[in-house]
Amino acid sequence: MALITWTAEQYGTGVGFADDEHKTLFGLLNKLYDEATSGADRATIGASLDALIAYVVDHFAHEEKEMVAKGYGGYDRHKEEHVAFIGIAADLQKKFHAGEAEVTEAVGQLVKGWLDNHIPTFDKSYSDALK
Ligand code: FEO
Repeated sequence: MALITWTAEQYGTGVGFADDEHKTLFGLLNKLYDEATSGADRATIGASLDALIAYVVDHFAHEEKEMVAKGYGGYDRHKEEHVAFIGIAADLQKKFHAGEAEVTEAVGQLVKGWLDNHIPTFDKSYSDALK
């Protein structure tokens, strides 16, 4: 069962590129979660983890570029959230590849919890500015 399902009501920002990228991001997260909770081999999980984090980094950069281009006032606080999350993700990625951490169900729930807060609170707030 999918960890996270995109709906316009819960996650829609009304900004086309952001909604499209969030849907792709959710797909990558669900793939990683399914692999991690069904006993896939570490190489497969590691590749999916790398793909997800690379996509998240690109997505954050895209949002930030658009916020700057539109002179959005919430940019600094929003960027702080992105930087903090990338720090957590990069730490997990490094530890996973060093054999010091695993992608567990709890990791998936943590990422879902972050998205459940970030998209409605921060991403939806740029809706009017970025449309
Ligand atoms: Fe869609 Fe601010 O991340």
